[in-house]
Amino acid sequence: MKYTIITIVLGVVSIASIGAVMSSSGWGDREYEDRYEKEYESDDHEYGPSRGAWLEPRADVRPVKNETYRTECGGCHFAYQPGLLPRNDWARIMDSLEEHYGDDASLDEILAKQIRGYLLENAADRASQSRARAFSAGSDASDMLPRITNTNYFRREHYEIPVRLVRGNSGVGSFSNCQACHRKADAGIYNEHQVVIPGVGKWDD
Ligand code: HEC
Ligand code: HEC
Repeated sequence: MKYTIITIVLGVVSIASIGAVMSSSGWGDREYEDRYEKEYESDDHEYGPSRGAWLEPRADVRPVKNETYRTECGGCHFAYQPGLLPRNDWARIMDSLEEHYGDDASLDEILAKQIRGYLLENAADRASQSRARAFSAGSDASDMLPRITNTNYFRREHYEIPVRLVRGNSGVGSFSNCQACHRKADAGIYNEHQVVIPGVGKWDD
């Protein structure tokens, strides 16, 4: 009986302190991230319980939720998540859409402004997920346009993959086609255990 009372008192105290933390500034973001992560964790349950809950992948970068972005920037290639590059790099890309890696990807001013806002707001250097944070160092500083595939993190993760499985593989063609090997890339899942290279199969290293 004595312990029950202590438990209740402790419970009330901890609820009260949670309340205090919640009302302090900054909680809003955290709460959003937590909810967000849960949403995508539950989405991953289709991988089946046989893999074990601890192996279930979750979103490494926040999936694209902006339909304007998806339509305008996902037509020629995979709609890269904003969390794959830091703000600086996205700004440089948005500043030179007329000369976009050999293509003209220019947009009218209103659309460009909207997309720029979406990219900068959700960029790698603003993300909380650790894999998105790993992209926040960005692409090599050079005269060339930034590339996700030129970031140190990207290169570190992919250097073991032989070129013949990428450029020499009609099912892939280029490292820029994330979704060719990362089948759940659109959901923001890049977990190495989910990689299937076309014509090769699951990646085991
Ligand atoms: C007219 C077609 C076209 C449109 C529209 C387009 N892109 Fe691209 N984009 C390309 C091409 C071509 C490449 C180079 C792909 C390659 O090297 O395999 C590219 C490459 C990229 C890369 C570098 C990928 C890497 O290798 O790391 C990023 C980032 C990118 N685009 C972002 C965007 C954004 C943001 C938009 C919308 C504002 C956009 N693209 C719209 C054609 C387009
Ligand atoms: C040719 C197939 C292929 C393509 C295309 C590809 N990847 Fe990968 N990726 C892999 C493989 C294989 C690994 C695991 C490498 C290892 O651990 O040895 C990996 C690992 C990763 C990881 C680390 C995952 C982890 O569990 O640590 C990230 C993040 C990632 N890729 C992102 C991307 C992004 C973003 C793109 C597109 C710009 C992309 N990849 C394109 C095959 C690919």
